[in-house]
Amino acid sequence: MSATELRPLAWRGDAKDGRLALLDQRLLPGTVAWREFKDVEAVAQAIRDMTVRGAPAIGLTAAYGLVLAAQEATRKGFSAQLRAEHLSRAKALLAATRPTAVNLFWALEEMDRGIKSGDSDAALLEKALALHEADVAGNARIGEQLLRRLESGMNVLTHCNAGALATGGLGTALAGLFLAQRKGLSIHVWVSETRPRLQGARLTAWELTQANVPCTLITDNMAASLMAKGQVDLVVTGADRVARNGDVANKIGTSMHAVCAKHFGVPFHVAAPFSTFDPKTASGKDIVIEERDPDEVTTVNGERLCPAGMKVYNPSFDVTPAALVRSLFTDRGEVEPVTEARLAEVLLTPGGPR
Ligand code: MRU
Repeated sequence: MSATELRPLAWRGDAKDGRLALLDQRLLPGTVAWREFKDVEAVAQAIRDMTVRGAPAIGLTAAYGLVLAAQEATRKGFSAQLRAEHLSRAKALLAATRPTAVNLFWALEEMDRGIKSGDSDAALLEKALALHEADVAGNARIGEQLLRRLESGMNVLTHCNAGALATGGLGTALAGLFLAQRKGLSIHVWVSETRPRLQGARLTAWELTQANVPCTLITDNMAASLMAKGQVDLVVTGADRVARNGDVANKIGTSMHAVCAKHFGVPFHVAAPFSTFDPKTASGKDIVIEERDPDEVTTVNGERLCPAGMKVYNPSFDVTPAALVRSLFTDRGEVEPVTEARLAEVLLTPGGPR
């Protein structure tokens, strides 16, 4: 399976009787297993337990979750009022799954506009499919921008997973690396393992390996020593939310790489679609950071790593200040410098840069 074929989610069936299929990312890379979902409660649980993860993929999953809720309302013969209440409960359920990736709330609002204007199940499905297709196209545009910064012989470092598994298409941070590989550039990628859920080791390493992109796995605390030795030319990550001033929330550990990159003069870039931009949030200080189960830190594959009863801090994301980000690659164009004014110009100006 190459990155072009790799998909974390797929709609199966039609506008009357559909199922959402999710690639169970908790089992990767050892087991490639798809699960089908028919009701919105199970979809919400799949987002919470990270069967599906990655900001854009979570948003698309939530959009399809609302389509499943609409189909349920039709199957049960709900009146218009009962249907509206049912869909509003479904939206609240999905919104309560994970707080940081703004793509989730963005997709729910996009779908809600259709729901409020009385869209049929078929129209809602069309809307979800259109969001999915737009993400695929956006990924390619994002990838082109990173590609322009890459040259043969470069060593690129990435953290977490911002590849095909996290999106509808080729990915955000990884899209440019896949494009570079297809173009014949010889790029090498340092894959930071991404404790505690190991998205780097389990998912990014898997995606890159399948696409034949040369890569080497490192633990998160090795990046500074590589940079000190001049072995990192560029860092690129995805994002879960970009605030109005350009501060970036992404997987815990991202800001550590950004600080090191600044110190060693390595450009640090972020790749994310418009759906990750949150103009309602003024700065990174206002972004809600998800805290997850302590067991993610205290155990690996069920094996305890530390004394029983150990106190744990497990924030899932951190905030990288805009000042540490060289440029933001988006589906609406490149943002550099990463300032509030430039972000507004590129992302919010109708007919602005594409
Ligand atoms: O907790 P996760 O695995 O959902 O976190 C994912 C990340 O932090 C990704 O870097 C981010 O969502 C960008 S995905 C294109």
